[in-house]
Amino acid sequence: MNKRVENALNDQIEKEASSSQFYLAMASWAETQGLNGTAKFLYTHSDEERFHMLKLVKFVNERGGTAVVPGLDCPAKEFKTLENVFQLLLEHELRVTDSINNLVDVCLQEKDYTTHNFIQWYVSEQLEEEALARTILDKIKLIGGDNAGLYLFDRDLENSSIQAEPSSGTLPGM
Ligand code: FEO
Repeated sequence: MNKRVENALNDQIEKEASSSQFYLAMASWAETQGLNGTAKFLYTHSDEERFHMLKLVKFVNERGGTAVVPGLDCPAKEFKTLENVFQLLLEHELRVTDSINNLVDVCLQEKDYTTHNFIQWYVSEQLEEEALARTILDKIKLIGGDNAGLYLFDRDLENSSIQAEPSSGTLPGM
């Protein structure tokens, strides 16, 4: 496997793993605030990010590279507000999108069209995740400081069809 592409894929593995940890910390915080619907949504989202990481690990190894399982920084333990959580989540996803775009660039420069094809799944996924984060953030801004609105939002998030599903793709060899 082309070394530059392999390094870029391993960088992406680290980013997906960090995303999983970050959203896990958000989920845990939401649970301690009594926001069980939000917690459920974020726990699922954390699982989805782990799936993104695993899909990359399998791809790198099956293509003759060596996947590097990264050590991770401790994520934040406290968040100011629910709006703050989803603002941070959106900003994080925007950085992940930049990183995916960079990966696409590297694939094209190195003429690695197989990896380029593989990474298109992530390009589409980022579109969906950014849109979802923006939708949720807009709803939270509409609610403002209204506790009844927050209660309904949390309940809706628990039952909503907008839950992120880790089964939205298949792992190579699984
Ligand atoms: Fe896998 Fe949300 O980036």
